[in-house]
Amino acid sequence: MLIAGNWKMFNGPREAGVFCRALRDADLGDVDVAVCPPYVSLAEAVQALAGTEIGVFAQNCHWEPEGAFTGEVSAPMLLELGVYGTIVGHSERRQFFGETDEGVARRVESALDQGLQVIACVGETEAEREAGETETVLRRQLSVLNADDNLVVAYEPVWAIGTGKTATPEIAQEAHALVKSLLDVPVLYGGSVRPENAAELVAQPDVDGALVGGASLDLESFAAICRAASQ
Ligand code: 13P
Repeated sequence: MLIAGNWKMFNGPREAGVFCRALRDADLGDVDVAVCPPYVSLAEAVQALAGTEIGVFAQNCHWEPEGAFTGEVSAPMLLELGVYGTIVGHSERRQFFGETDEGVARRVESALDQGLQVIACVGETEAEREAGETETVLRRQLSVLNADDNLVVAYEPVWAIGTGKTATPEIAQEAHALVKSLLDVPVLYGGSVRPENAAELVAQPDVDGALVGGASLDLESFAAICRAASQ
């Protein structure tokens, strides 16, 4: 069971240090825990969490080890900082920054090759779900990925992200079962996970953890989600 907090574009180095030092002492129950700070806060997070089991993940990673790619960061650079893994293909990258299935596939494959753990995100938009295209979209997004011991998929329905509209446990289970039938890897659920709904989501047989956005920014609610998932 993995509970990962995706901080998105929140928490600069100072706030990241304060948060991670407090996280060290928090009661997180018995689950694997990771935080995903923005690039500029990774070093601070790694330092503050040194000697703990809490993993530090980036939010994206380029496929080349170096090169003329303005604004990008590579796997060797992240590994040099002590970063353990990276998110790839988050719907916000796909929606706002034009990332494609093919680009996501390149990022995932090379991050894995270079020694990072990867959380690869998939999920349908509201319009796609209403049009009955959920399965087609998930099949397309997953068709470019290969199972790997260091790969985890996060099913994040776009309509549930930051909206307070969590998928019901039944909707999540159905999507997770489909994902697992296509790719044999652990699958996290993401989209408005809160302390109040975490337990029943992770109780579903094919839900192996959660990728938490907004609620991961508050130490108390993040710790409460971890504890709820560990029961
Ligand atoms: P929220 O938990 O804020 O809905 O965000 C989910 C998410 O996008 C995690 O990557």
